[in-house]
Amino acid sequence: MKRVPVIIDCDPGHDDMMALVIGCCSPELDVRLVTTVAGNKPLELVTKNALNVLNYIGANEVPLAMGCDRPICRPKDHANSKLAEFRRHTGSIENGAHGATGLDGFQFPENNPKEPTDIRAVEAMAEVLRESDEKVTIIPLGPLTNVALLIRCYPNLVDKIDKISMMGGTSQFVFTRQYMEFNTFVDPEATKIVFESGIPIIMYGYDVTYSVLFDESVIRKIEEHKNQTSHMVAELLKTFMYRHNGAFPWLGLTDTCPIHDACAVAGVVDPSLITQSELLHVDVEIGGNYLNGATVVDYAKTTGLPANVQVVYRMDNQRFFDLMERCAANGK
Ligand code: BDR
Ligand code: CA
Repeated sequence: MKRVPVIIDCDPGHDDMMALVIGCCSPELDVRLVTTVAGNKPLELVTKNALNVLNYIGANEVPLAMGCDRPICRPKDHANSKLAEFRRHTGSIENGAHGATGLDGFQFPENNPKEPTDIRAVEAMAEVLRESDEKVTIIPLGPLTNVALLIRCYPNLVDKIDKISMMGGTSQFVFTRQYMEFNTFVDPEATKIVFESGIPIIMYGYDVTYSVLFDESVIRKIEEHKNQTSHMVAELLKTFMYRHNGAFPWLGLTDTCPIHDACAVAGVVDPSLITQSELLHVDVEIGGNYLNGATVVDYAKTTGLPANVQVVYRMDNQRFFDLMERCAANGK
């Protein structure tokens, strides 16, 4: 089977964890590099989480490079300090959807032997692109800081990027009046650089991710596989359902939960999972008072501006959940 070469850029995160499992445990993909970026939690924490997941699922051969510890030009903690304020007003649980560690709900073994590479993410991504005979797909699952810097630092390598399959943004799904979607909110300027890069972009925003909701039955099926990866996935999905629904109580979700980042990887494993999408003009707010980082999607096609993003609206939920299960079962 011809495998699709990919780089996964992430900030784990429960849904990033699921995305790493799908990426590393599906025979369709060849994960050449994992990079980390500050987002869900500070860089050191999300890197520790990514290293733990890779080691636990048996993907130690995949190199991991640490990336940026803050957005390109916004203050280091601007997103999380704004969110802390927002939590006080909404009755949201402490520490958000992913908890204090960024990946609450599973005890990974101490003394993980896996370590980050000596070189940083942008350099490591450039190396993968330079050395590859074929074009490489980049899958960003956090703020777009690393990817934007890659584009700016290595314009000569942009042609080696086949496409960007990203989790972020939203089209018609309104999340809050405060920040819309987290990843684009954290680094609006990086998002703008990526949207204006000319690279083909497939955007898995809240429209699709809040339509792919897993429930207890999905967890039970995964749990039936007795390998350690399935056990870890099941435990972390349970915690995420509890935490996500407590973090965003106004959404009214109780027994179901999204698994955002996994959608952007699943669509690369099997593009036929996408059942509804549209090529549209998408921009992002960078100079606003209230909604910096909000994606502005011309879904009514009124601007006449050129389409730059394939916006995904729906996926085949059942086949997506089957893929989650199959990949968890393939892990260590
Ligand atoms: C995004 O924010 C993070 O918490 C998730 O991992 C996902 O990438 C959803 O808005
Ligand atoms: Ca993420």
